[in-house]
Amino acid sequence: MSALLEVRHATRRFAGLIALNDVSLTLAPGEILGLIGPNGAGKTTLINLISGTLAASEGEVLFQGEPVNRLPAFRRARLGIGRTFQIMRPFPGLSVLDNVAVGALFGRGASKVPLTQAREQARVWLEFVGLGNTISGRTDELSGAGRRRLELAKALAMQPKLLLCDELMAGLNLVEIDQIIDLLRQVRERGISLLVIEHVIKAIISLSDRLLVLHHGEKIADGTPASVLSDPIVVQAYLGKKRT
Ligand SMILES: Nc1ncnc2c1ncn2[C@@H]1O[C@H](COP(=O)(O)OP(=O)(O)OP(=O)(O)O)[C@@H](O)[C@H]1O
Ligand SMILES: [Mg+2]
Repeated sequence: MSALLEVRHATRRFAGLIALNDVSLTLAPGEILGLIGPNGAGKTTLINLISGTLAASEGEVLFQGEPVNRLPAFRRARLGIGRTFQIMRPFPGLSVLDNVAVGALFGRGASKVPLTQAREQARVWLEFVGLGNTISGRTDELSGAGRRRLELAKALAMQPKLLLCDELMAGLNLVEIDQIIDLLRQVRERGISLLVIEHVIKAIISLSDRLLVLHHGEKIADGTPASVLSDPIVVQAYLGKKRT
């Protein structure tokens, strides 16, 4: 089957800095691709180029075989590219329910979704992520783990075919991490493909079919978790000597 997502030779420069240098990847339908690498490696930049938050300096992004480079982020979202944000910015004036309803209003095929329908979808996704009893509350009343789940519910309400997750597990404890892993597995079972950035190595190994490693903006490995984690270049660049 052809790739759901294909990135061809993507490069992104910021003034003198090359944040991403000639990175290519493919993601098959139903696949979970883990994206790892040290701080500043270019992981978020790559997600930004795929979702359209940032334009590529060079290279191409194809979704379902069609180039999407020239489309703004909201058009890519309507095609089915959803994402979460590493730096979460919930809408403070809106309830938990309406924060997620916003996702439904701007998601796949959503040019004319009425608000009542968006709220219904939001309710379903809040139940799914385990926030069903917080819907009328404010976002600042949520715990750290709750806000990550809110971020996930908002992205799922966009009905993505591909979900890009940027450090959903950051700052969570081991139990909370396991719960997010379980949720992401269920997301995949619903037919949604995933590209997941994560620093928690144990979590990303157990979740991913394949791992891609970035280092200084360059792809240094791409393969099964076992092959990537035993690659001496990856060990030296990211995992450190202790890990054997
Ligand atoms: N808008 C921007 N303007 C200038 N430089 C940027 C911008 N966004 C990212 N960078 C730089 O590009 C490089 C890659 O950043 P990026 O956020 O993609 O890394 P990352 O792998 O997501 O790191 P982390 O694990 O810390 O989230 C860094 O050196 C960063 O400072
Ligand atoms: Mg990042």
